[in-house]
Amino acid sequence: MIKTKEEELMYEEAKKAFDKAYVPYSKFHVGAVVKTKDGKFYSGCNIENASYGLTNCAERTAIFKAVSDGYREFESILVIGDTKDGCKPCGACRQVMAEFMKKDATVYLTNIKDAFEKYTMEQILPYSFLKEDL
Ligand code: THU
Repeated sequence: MIKTKEEELMYEEAKKAFDKAYVPYSKFHVGAVVKTKDGKFYSGCNIENASYGLTNCAERTAIFKAVSDGYREFESILVIGDTKDGCKPCGACRQVMAEFMKKDATVYLTNIKDAFEKYTMEQILPYSFLKEDL
């Protein structure tokens, strides 16, 4: 797939985060980048813990960094892992992504080779439970 300059930049930022993953237990690196409505990038990596269940995924690290800086809506997210195809977000991350991304927001699932898959948030988490449902 031919990437735009911005997609290329996002991918490079996510790869830098991937390299910083704290993964002494799984050794499985993941990186993510979210793009804010005003074009700012926030990156994150997965951060594991000796108490395994406390692990924070890369997607949520990136989203929480941006939200704690005052951003509430993301146009796109890019995820990278050392996977065969594009790295798939876990269920918990999909739910957190849906909280801050509209249904037509873009989700790029990539790997460290040549996978560069493009989806919408709606495709990644259909029939989602959202604030409108409360
Ligand atoms: N992981 C992520 O960072 N994102 C996901 O959506 C899937 C899983 C991490 C958590 C853990 O550090 C490692 O991948 C193996 O599950």
